[in-house]
Amino acid sequence: MINGSFTVAIDGPAAAGKGTIAKAVARYFDFEHLDTGLLYRAVGVKTRQSGDAVSIAQNLDISDLRRDDLRTAAAAEAASQVATNSDVRAALLAFQREFARRAGGAVLDGRDIGTVVCPQAEVKLFVTASPEIRAERRFAELCAQGAKTTFEAVLADVTARDARDQNRATAPMRPADDALLLDTTKLSIDAAVTMAVANIKKAMQGRD
Ligand code: C5P
Repeated sequence: MINGSFTVAIDGPAAAGKGTIAKAVARYFDFEHLDTGLLYRAVGVKTRQSGDAVSIAQNLDISDLRRDDLRTAAAAEAASQVATNSDVRAALLAFQREFARRAGGAVLDGRDIGTVVCPQAEVKLFVTASPEIRAERRFAELCAQGAKTTFEAVLADVTARDARDQNRATAPMRPADDALLLDTTKLSIDAAVTMAVANIKKAMQGRD
C-alpha cells in the first residue's frame, strides 16, 4: 500500500487495450481505477435521451456510471460527440482530479489524462495499436455480446472516433511528451502489462 497519492495516467484510442492494462495495474498495486470514458458515455447517453449536455455533465452522479447501457456502440458515438464540448470537459475535470489524488493510489484511463487532467501524474502511459487490430478486437467483443455488425462497420466507427478525438480543439487525444508508448499491435496485452508494472515500480522507487 502506497502512502499518500500516486497517479497512473493511461491514454490511448478505443480498443488498444488501455482498459485491460488499467485494470491489471490497479489490481497489481491495489490502486483504485476510474474508466473516464464512462463519464463521457453517461453524459452522451443521457443527453440523447433529453437535455443539455453541459448541465447533465455538471449534475452527473456516480450512480450514472453504473447504467447498463454505457457499453454499446451507440453510447461510444454519443460520448465522442459530447466530448468535443469544452464546457462538458470542464464540468468533468474536478471529479477526475479529486479521484486521481486519492490516498492509496489511482489509475485513470482515457484520452487526455496525462496531458490535461493529470499533467503531474507520477506515471503516464500511452497505449495504441493499428486501427485494423483495434477494429478486430472490438468486432469480436461486439459479436460476443450478440450485436449484429460487420468488421467494415466497426473499422469505420473506430476511424471516425479516432479522427474526432484527435482533431477536437479542446484536450485532443495525444501522448504526453513524457509518456511511455505501448503499441499492442505486436505486443501482447500481457507483455504490455508487464512493461507497465515495471515502469510504475521504477517510478515508485524514484520517489522513495
Ligand atoms: O474510452 P471510451 O471508448 O469509453 O471513450 C468513449 C469516448 O469518450 C471517446 O471516444 C472520447 O471521445 C471520449 N473520452 C474523452 N476523454 C476521456 C475519455 C473518453 O474525450 N478522458
